[in-house]
Amino acid sequence: MTEQSATLKIGDKSVDLAVKSGTIGPDVIDIGALYKNTASFTYDPGFTSTASCESKITYIDGDAGVLLHRGYPIEQLAEHGDFLEVCYLLLYGELPTAAQKKDFDYRVTHHTMVHEQMSRFFTGFRRDAHPMAVMCGCVGALSAFYHDSTDITDPHQRMVASLRMIAKMPTLAAMAYKYHVGQPFVYPKNDLDYASNFLRMCFAVPCEEYVVNPVLSRAMDRIFILHADHEQNASTSTVRLAGSSGANPFACIAAGIACLWGPAHGGANEAALNMLTEIGTVDRIPEYIARAKDKSDPFRLMGFGHRVYKNYDPRAKIMQKTTHEVLGELGVKDDPLLEVAMELERIALTDEYFIEKKLYPNIDFYSGITLKALGFPTTMFTVLFALARTVGWIAQWNEMIEDPEQRIGRPRQLYVGEPQRDYVPVSKR
Ligand code: CMC
Repeated sequence: MTEQSATLKIGDKSVDLAVKSGTIGPDVIDIGALYKNTASFTYDPGFTSTASCESKITYIDGDAGVLLHRGYPIEQLAEHGDFLEVCYLLLYGELPTAAQKKDFDYRVTHHTMVHEQMSRFFTGFRRDAHPMAVMCGCVGALSAFYHDSTDITDPHQRMVASLRMIAKMPTLAAMAYKYHVGQPFVYPKNDLDYASNFLRMCFAVPCEEYVVNPVLSRAMDRIFILHADHEQNASTSTVRLAGSSGANPFACIAAGIACLWGPAHGGANEAALNMLTEIGTVDRIPEYIARAKDKSDPFRLMGFGHRVYKNYDPRAKIMQKTTHEVLGELGVKDDPLLEVAMELERIALTDEYFIEKKLYPNIDFYSGITLKALGFPTTMFTVLFALARTVGWIAQWNEMIEDPEQRIGRPRQLYVGEPQRDYVPVSKR
């Protein structure tokens, strides 16, 4: 890394701050010693100008609409790779050789069963519980089952925990779905690939033979690839922050799931589909566009806009293609939701408000339509996002533990409350 410096003047004081450059992307100004030297903090709510760590995993250029994992463009990974190959890449830094891939697939596949006692957890939830609530609880509970992989100082245990989580998330997600719809749990099957296994665990029933449709399982796999990692987003930062205290990896991932649930983040795919359903017909779109522009109305077009992408989300383009493949395979023609989605996209992309604010459709705009066609209820959408993002969270968590600069994450604040005052007895208030 090349080092330059920046000078900051506060009153008559002047401090030199190191400027660090990465391999690509914006430079960062190292303010680590700012408080010590100036007694001032920086202020950046929402962290819009703050790099919280060094990372080698994922790079996003939001203006150009570029997403790279370990340097490889998402378009190439989605076109030529499969999800477990991307998992290997995110975890280990390089694409696997054929032998490494075979071994990795084997190891993940042979960790897909969950402790039988886990199934009792599900019955503690109401059947109408949101599956994300179930996932928050059950993934957190994994730390009570796998004591042999919670020592975060041991790289071997960290990798075992990582593989366990990548392997068990589809099983838990499918169990959450089955519990929700009142069907028996379906155990994983080792001769199936990751996505096919997941589809089978969700949609097979004991009374019938389930044959996986390869077009649908490829689409599922691609959806997983597209959601695998996205740099320091809210849930990943949550996982890192939780992990910075030394918490065990299962608890950290549960924290990530909780954060992902919100409608501004992973919950947007569910919210986008609900919005398309609410709009219902193309003629009602102008009313909703007007509401989205109205500052006095909290309504936003779900599935539009992104904190980082100020261009077309590259994942949305691939997702759009996958949506058409799935709908074509299933013979879904003239889907009213798709019609509303297409028209909404066309209007938003030509409307001055959306152009000026650089609000493009994001991945969630299309993923909801595809997941619905695959047979998932809207409440499962964010669960599928969590399943796929687990590898990103766990790769970033591992990177953080190995970072020699790692310390507990502990932001400061601008205090605007009452200054010190004396306690007043209740009789005198
Ligand atoms: N519809 C209408 N106006 C919008 C929208 C929208 N979807 N998104 C942003 N704006 C406006 C916003 O009102 C603001 O206007 P002004 O500058 O006049 O105040 C401007 O655009 C900038 O918005 P912001 O809220 O300051 O931007 P942000 O970076 O804080 O928020 C976002 C990003 C994704 C939370 C936001 O665009 C949003 O709420 N979108 C809808 C939810 C959504 O689709 N989220 C999924 C994100 S992609 C999946 C993921 O990574 O989790």
